[in-house]
Amino acid sequence: MRRDPLAYLGAELQSLKDQNLYRQLRILEDEQKAHTTFDGRSVVNLSSNNYLGLTTHPKLRARALDAVQRFGVGSGSVRTIAGTMAIHMELERRLAEFKKVEAVVVFQSGFAANAGTVAAILNKDDVVISDELNHASIIDGCRLSRAAIKVFPHKDVDAARRLVEGLPAGQRKLLITDGVFSMDGDLGPLPALCELAEATGCIMMVDDAHASGVFGANGRGTIDHFGMHGRVDVQVGTLSKAVGALGGYVAGNRSLIEFLYHRARPFLFSTSHPPAVAAACIAALDVLLEEPRIIERLWENTRFFKAGLARLGFDTGASESPITPVIAGEGAKAMMLSDRLFEEGVFAQGIAFPTVAKDKARVRTIVTATHTREDLQYALDAFERVGRELGLI
Ligand SMILES: Cc1ncc(COP(=O)(O)O)c(C=O)c1O
Repeated sequence: MRRDPLAYLGAELQSLKDQNLYRQLRILEDEQKAHTTFDGRSVVNLSSNNYLGLTTHPKLRARALDAVQRFGVGSGSVRTIAGTMAIHMELERRLAEFKKVEAVVVFQSGFAANAGTVAAILNKDDVVISDELNHASIIDGCRLSRAAIKVFPHKDVDAARRLVEGLPAGQRKLLITDGVFSMDGDLGPLPALCELAEATGCIMMVDDAHASGVFGANGRGTIDHFGMHGRVDVQVGTLSKAVGALGGYVAGNRSLIEFLYHRARPFLFSTSHPPAVAAACIAALDVLLEEPRIIERLWENTRFFKAGLARLGFDTGASESPITPVIAGEGAKAMMLSDRLFEEGVFAQGIAFPTVAKDKARVRTIVTATHTREDLQYALDAFERVGRELGLI
């Protein structure tokens, strides 16, 4: 009988189980909302990126349904062959207007936007200067580009400057940061990085996946929040998180966008969004412009929940956003915290190495605009009980 050439994967999985790091996927049995049902249990949901509750917003539902009726369920092709529908172009126009840039290209996901863009605009002669906590899709894009990769310690602009200054003046350089860091919830130091990029001729790129719909006027992101319009060459946003649907986009000048139309591999080689996705995203932009109160509610809930965790004495790192990590230390401890919270009716996913450092395993919480105060107080009470039980507070 043939030996299973994949047997080593089973051994790796066993090792995860031995370390209590093996995770069953939690199954959502209802809508993605603030109080919902996972694995048969009714829970306060602190694990989604559905910041504004738009996954179930009536305007998005209605526009998506209408698009299915009018245009069907799929686009049937990649964008560069027959899969560019008028509604895709309308979404790109609307996003460009919203982000105050010349043009926007939409990708199938934020991951594809980051990886596809970095890989397209750089080659093996170039260099990337990247924050150590940048998202995996940026790291993969850097690797695919074959450019040299220089990593600076988290948010350390002086270290980034030393790296840039050590490089030949004529070499093409991309300076890149997350706008909001996805596991810690802190903000990239945009003003100082933009200054560095301008002084040294770097291309400046910001991944605003977790800032889209959350920071800046009407949710325009960290570039708007910091007043950096016109100073970031490549802005990435996502349509999968606060916008409530699916997708990513790059915002910039027209030649950047037209270049990506010709060279970004996910754009060229993977089918475009179903029309209902584009329609839902357009409706989401209307909601951001017409109902900014939703964003205020997100921030009111964020302040309430963060203050509650701080009062209880948890280590919540340096978050400045609705993402609040509750740091437990070792991976197994974080998973125990997550599992016990779940039994108490609160879903906060455990996150361990290699997503975060080995001794910084955590549960990551994200509050949304649609949590009620009762939901959040219920969650805080559960955190207090379980935190004491596990010796975290
Ligand atoms: C910082 C960051 N960038 C990009 C992405 C990818 O976005 P998407 O889920 O739309 O692929 C994520 C999502 O996990 C993220 O956290």
